[in-house]
Amino acid sequence: MRPPRTFRPAPDSPRLAILRSADRTELWTETVGREPPVYGERWTESDGRPYRSFEPARSKVSAAIVKGWQGPLPAPGEGWLYLGAASGTTASHVADLVGPTGRVYAVERSLRPFSRLVTLAERWPNLLPILGDARDPSAYAGLVPPVRGIYADIAQADQVEIVLANAELLLEGAEGRVLLALKTASMGRDATAPQHVRRAEEALGRLLDLEPSTRLDPFHRGHYFLGGVVRPGHFGAPGPTTPRPPRGHSPARRRR
Ligand SMILES: C[S@@+](CC[C@H](N)C(=O)[O-])C[C@H]1O[C@@H](n2cnc3c(N)ncnc32)[C@H](O)[C@@H]1O
Repeated sequence: MRPPRTFRPAPDSPRLAILRSADRTELWTETVGREPPVYGERWTESDGRPYRSFEPARSKVSAAIVKGWQGPLPAPGEGWLYLGAASGTTASHVADLVGPTGRVYAVERSLRPFSRLVTLAERWPNLLPILGDARDPSAYAGLVPPVRGIYADIAQADQVEIVLANAELLLEGAEGRVLLALKTASMGRDATAPQHVRRAEEALGRLLDLEPSTRLDPFHRGHYFLGGVVRPGHFGAPGPTTPRPPRGHSPARRRR
């Protein structure tokens, strides 16, 4: 363990510490987990509290923050649905950010990473692994209450549609957030990367007030970070222009 340093919390996500110097930015999350490290990250203490380095080369949300993402982030006490958790590299940090009173519902469909995720969850008490296909959110909806945020990193051609289907069923109304690590290379060759990003922004922009997208090069080539907060008027969020819900999109169905 390295010598203690004093970390200053990020204003919107106080379990995140951002240390900027002239030539680099370091991110750390105050952890709720127990050692050993998950993926070789560094552990330390600040003011008696345990922190883990949050490596931009290993996590798209970390890369987004280093590259200037100003949009919403998971915060203490919140519930987040995580699509494409793999073996938990980033999901463990999201669980750190929501802290001991929050919860991360981590969906992964492949057995091999899922078994490592289950082992990880033994050391992260607020992380619930769910073996499931994010294309079928109704299959795990009984395990997931309405959540404050959805984080998706699934690298599929229909990743935007998958996120929207999960949001329709499981995202809280007012203040709901969506974060998407968009892999344009998975989206077909009929369009350039910027065109794929524009299409994704158009689709997500019907639901969200979007932040400017962040390109994740050089940390994650061909990836972009998109997201925002649910627009007023959607999902029962207060607003003057509440549209008629689309078919099958009743609050009763979403809020079991
Ligand atoms: C890029 S990796 C995720 C890395 C992880 N988010 C991290 O940062 O630690 C994409 C993951 O999404 C999973 N995945 C792809 N399609 C999925 C689906 N339809 N439902 C659930 N998981 C899916 C893959 O099995 C893979 O583990």
